[in-house]
Amino acid sequence: PLVSSTSMLQAARSGGYGVGAFNVHTLEMLQAVVEAAEETGSPLILQSTVGTVKHLGADYLAAAATTAANRSSVPIALHLDHCTDFAMIVHCIRAGYTSVMIDASMHAFEENVAQTKRIVDIAHAAGVNVEAELGKVGGVEDEIIVAEHEASLADPLECARFVQLTGVPTLAPAIGTAHGIYKGMPHIDFARIQRVAELVTVPLVLHGGSGIPEAQVKRCIALGMSKMNIATEIRIVFSDAIKQVFKDNPDENDPRKYMVPAKKAVKEAAIEKMRMLGCFGKA
Ligand code: 13P
Ligand code: ZN
Ligand code: NA
Repeated sequence: PLVSSTSMLQAARSGGYGVGAFNVHTLEMLQAVVEAAEETGSPLILQSTVGTVKHLGADYLAAAATTAANRSSVPIALHLDHCTDFAMIVHCIRAGYTSVMIDASMHAFEENVAQTKRIVDIAHAAGVNVEAELGKVGGVEDEIIVAEHEASLADPLECARFVQLTGVPTLAPAIGTAHGIYKGMPHIDFARIQRVAELVTVPLVLHGGSGIPEAQVKRCIALGMSKMNIATEIRIVFSDAIKQVFKDNPDENDPRKYMVPAKKAVKEAAIEKMRMLGCFGKA
């Protein structure tokens, strides 16, 4: 069965490594990251955005993830990424998700606390992990669009107060990363990560994982980040591989053929991220 990501991430925090959380949009993408985890003995978080739940259905996603977990020797959690909607969160928990993100980061602190607390209460009863965000991660993630000038970093003292007030078991503090591929280098505030990690004992989540150079990923993990979200990069390698098939063979019409290199590309990219995160053999 699918597991809650709470203990998986607590183990990562105390063990000083990170767990990869991959946004999947098709069965082949899901299978690719599962194979990557299986082959490297890595714990795994499968994620879907709200857009993908609307596209495929929470029940289909939960059934596919559950099948993967039942076949697998590594622990697998299923997480709902960046959700602003209470009803959608309840819907996904009912469908079998074992982790949910309530993203009320666009609201004032007190409102973020109130919305997060409400989700923590219902999720706790269901044994489901909860992630919340403080500060605003820039860039585009599905239906959530934050312009560069609107992005803001999390205040470490607020992080401590937020966790205390909400009891949230996982926190995503904005520390300078962004959704999508960076133009140039990301501007990560490492001192801020360190300060948050000193004040907060729950596992911390690094959003915007695509495009962060290896040395910076490792530094984030060493400072206390325990989960890294990866969306854009695996979408790009998946799509590029399919484009290449059709470029070489415009008449190809068998998804069982053109999906093969796409799946392989996602699997290789996922293994590379898991290596950076230091989670090989931690399952
Ligand atoms: P990237 O698209 O930069 O990988 O960000 C992923 C993310 O944070 C999903 O929540
Ligand atoms: Zn994100
Ligand atoms: Na990114």
